Amino acid sequence: MADAAEFQDRLLSLGLARVSEAAALASARLIGRGDEKAADQAAVTAMRSQLNLLDIKGTVVIGEGERDEAPMLYIGEEVGTGNGPEVDIALDPLEGTTLTAKDMPNALTVIAMAPRGTLLHAPDVYMEKLAIGPGYKPGTVTMTMTPSERVSALAAAKGVSTENITVCVLERPRHEELIKEIRSTGASIRLITDGDVAGVMHCAEPEKTGIDMYMGSGGAPEGVLAAAALKCMGGQFYGKLLFRNDDERGRARKAGIQNFDRVYTRDDLVRGDVIFAATGVTNGSLLTGIRREPGWITTETILMRSKTGSVRRVQYRSPV
Ligand code: FBP
Repeated sequence: MADAAEFQDRLLSLGLARVSEAAALASARLIGRGDEKAADQAAVTAMRSQLNLLDIKGTVVIGEGERDEAPMLYIGEEVGTGNGPEVDIALDPLEGTTLTAKDMPNALTVIAMAPRGTLLHAPDVYMEKLAIGPGYKPGTVTMTMTPSERVSALAAAKGVSTENITVCVLERPRHEELIKEIRSTGASIRLITDGDVAGVMHCAEPEKTGIDMYMGSGGAPEGVLAAAALKCMGGQFYGKLLFRNDDERGRARKAGIQNFDRVYTRDDLVRGDVIFAATGVTNGSLLTGIRREPGWITTETILMRSKTGSVRRVQYRSPV
C-alpha cells in the first residue's frame, strides 16, 4: 500500500481530472450568457465540492483570493478529506471568465497539485512572463534581453528567420510598446484578449498551436499555474513580480516574498513534482470546449504529471 504521507501523484491524477471536469461542467450552462460572475461562481462551487472528496490534506496556495475577499477556495483554505498526503493546491476554477461569458476561445478550468511547500505562494499582483517550448538550451531567451533580442535568439535557435516566429501577447494598452517592438523584428503576434495560462501552454506545442514564445505581463497566480503546466509539457518559463503600489508590496510580504526583484524560473515557481489538469470550457487550440448533444455532455481534459512527463487528453462523456 502507498505511504499516506508520500505524494501519490499517480493515484491522485485521475481525481484531479475529475475536479477540473466538474468545474467545467458547472460553468457550461453559463457559456455565452454575459455573466462572468455567475460562471465563475458555478465553477468555484463545483471545483470545491469535488476537491473535498479527494483523499488529501490539501491547502490552497493559489486560489480565489485572500480569506476576507473570497468565501470559497481562498488562499489558506484546507481542502480534501484530510486523509492522505499533505499537498499544495494552485487553482483557477475559470481561467477566462470573460471568454466564457462571451463564448470566446480558450477558456479553461485549471488545477495543479504538488507536495506541501513546493509551490510559490504568489501574491495577487502582476507578473512579467516569458515562455518558450521544449527542445531549446536553457537561457536561449532571458528576461534581461529586450523583446527583439529574444525574437532573434529564438529564431537563431530554431534555425528560422524572425518572420517565422510567432509570439503570443495579451492585448492590453500596457503592451503597446512591446507589440511595436516585436513587430519591428518581422515576427508575427497572436493577440489574446484573456487567458494567459493557455497562452503560455501554447508554446509547448508549437506545431499544433503555431505559437513559439509568450511575452508580457499578467496575473502572478496564473504564472505559477502556467509554470506547472510547462514543467509537465516541457519548456522554459521566467517570471518577475511587478508591483504598482505599497498595498501590492504588502501582499507580497504577507505571502513570504522577500526579494522583490527576483526572476523566477519555472523550477523556482514549482520546486518539486506536480500534477496538472485543465478542461476546455470554450473551444480552443489546445482543448475542445464543452460539447452538448441531446442527452449527453462531453468534456476534454489535459492531464499531466511532471515526474513522468506524461500528457493525457481525457474525454469524458456524461448523460444529462
Ligand atoms: P480571469 O479568469 O479572472 O478573467 O483572468 C483572465 C486573465 O486574462 C488572466 O489569464 C491574466 O493573467 C489576467 O486576466 C490579466 O489581467 P488583466 O486583465 O488585468 O490584464
